[in-house]
Amino acid sequence: MNSLKKFPDKFIADLKAIINPRDFVTDEEKIKPSLTDWVGYADGKSSLMLTPRNTEEVSGILKLCSNYKIPIVPQGGNTGSVAGAIPNGEIILNMTKMNSIREINPNDYTVTVDAGCILEKIHELAIESNRFFPLSIGSQGTCTIGGNISTNAGGISVLKYGNMRDLVLGLEVVLPNGEIWNGLRRLRKDNTGYALKHIFMGAEGTLGIITAACLRLFPEITEKATAFASLRNLDSCVDLLELLRTEGGDSLSSYELIPDIGLDIAITYGEEIIEPLSKRYQWNVIIEFSGTKNDGAAKLNLENTLNTAIENGIILDAIIANSLKQANSIWKIRKAIVEYQPRLGGEIKHDVAVPISNVPEFIKEANDAVRRVIPDIRPVAYGHIGDGNIHYNVCPPLEYDHVSFKEKTEEIHKAVYDIAFKFGGSFAAEHGVGVVKKNEMLRYKSETEINLMKLIKISIDPNQIMNPGKVLENKKY
Ligand code: FAD
Ligand code: LAC
Ligand code: ZN
Repeated sequence: MNSLKKFPDKFIADLKAIINPRDFVTDEEKIKPSLTDWVGYADGKSSLMLTPRNTEEVSGILKLCSNYKIPIVPQGGNTGSVAGAIPNGEIILNMTKMNSIREINPNDYTVTVDAGCILEKIHELAIESNRFFPLSIGSQGTCTIGGNISTNAGGISVLKYGNMRDLVLGLEVVLPNGEIWNGLRRLRKDNTGYALKHIFMGAEGTLGIITAACLRLFPEITEKATAFASLRNLDSCVDLLELLRTEGGDSLSSYELIPDIGLDIAITYGEEIIEPLSKRYQWNVIIEFSGTKNDGAAKLNLENTLNTAIENGIILDAIIANSLKQANSIWKIRKAIVEYQPRLGGEIKHDVAVPISNVPEFIKEANDAVRRVIPDIRPVAYGHIGDGNIHYNVCPPLEYDHVSFKEKTEEIHKAVYDIAFKFGGSFAAEHGVGVVKKNEMLRYKSETEINLMKLIKISIDPNQIMNPGKVLENKKY
């Protein structure tokens, strides 16, 4: 209990009156996994984690925190990439115990869930009702819907279905003073003043706790065709996307960039990954067409389109998976890049977006820029090229000193982000700002934007108890 002495006794007593002892966690071993992140950015501190089971408990906790001006950090699956869920001495409000499905309505194509539901559970639930929930990200077995909404997660299906923001119809939010806002509407149209739900989406837990959401569902996907294709050159990625869109229309559901070095990482370190083509090429893409009819149309369409792309000289070679196993093997290449890239002596990461037509120029200019900082640096530019979001990560030259590489982090960040900015791009496409990109907020956002954000923050959270120091610095505005 000593670990709680920094809190007023009355606050702790009042908390204990609201929340069950099993959800009042002080055991260091139980808290430990919530103090670090998978990227290695975070080294957090906290002596108390609360795991509420329902909205009323969240409301009671926030009311108390507000009254005593005690800050909290919301946390879902802790799979975020910018240390946004990591506490720096604050109480952790872990949402994973709030994981009920409130209602699924196949006729309305909606599902209403608690915020702590794991994303994969929503996928499975949708399929049981012959429906489809499209958010598809590598962490889907661990991340929560509340975290997905709070980071406005993206992933590999954004070019067809949009970001998380586009998949949310309504929200239930507990405001910092404990008040519950029930905005769980199931409407496709609702122009009744300011779209409040959008303020909380992508806010990274700095404005309130999302306790439930009503999500959009789609017709069940019953057919998928997956291909691995080598581009004539980087510029061809734009021509190929144009062709895939024209010929494939709505069936184009993923378009991901795989550089040769990424394939090398996957083949060297990954498991059950087979070399997709007989020859290696510098730039490749994974393409997925999907459909609802299960009549072979997706595969036929993809085959015809890729034949046209070969005839036009846009691509050099391609393979379409003939089995689910082969399709999985192709997708494993993509996943393995994320997992094993650090094995190349560490990595400096960037989650950048530029307009799609500028992606080739962006990558070329960024390569030149980072090579001016470290001549033999190894860029690994991969990712969601279909929506202009590139994970432009760089690894050190072979045998390069680890400490010297890390010391170049800020210089490399600036080199890369300046180029993205020049193309009207974003320094945080889908992972958010957290604590990691607060400097970039000040460097690249206009004063007008920052001031508007501060106004929103201070009017909704006047005591600044919600996830302090994330996205914006906490101070008196
Ligand atoms: P957490 O990490 O716990 O929290 C994220 C942020 O949301 C924090 O600021 C936290 O305070 C806040 N928060 C969490 N829950 C709530 C709530 N209920 N109310 C208010 N605030 C809350 N992201 C992508 O966008 N696209 C990808 O393709 C992608 N791929 C990934 C692959 C891997 C292998 C991994 C590990 C991560 C990947 N991510 C990706 C990042 C990550 O999974 C997402 O950011 C995810 O949306 C976070 O969900 P979470 O539940 O883990 O949230
Ligand atoms: C991905 C994560 C890194 O796209 O965003 O795999
Ligand atoms: Zn991504």
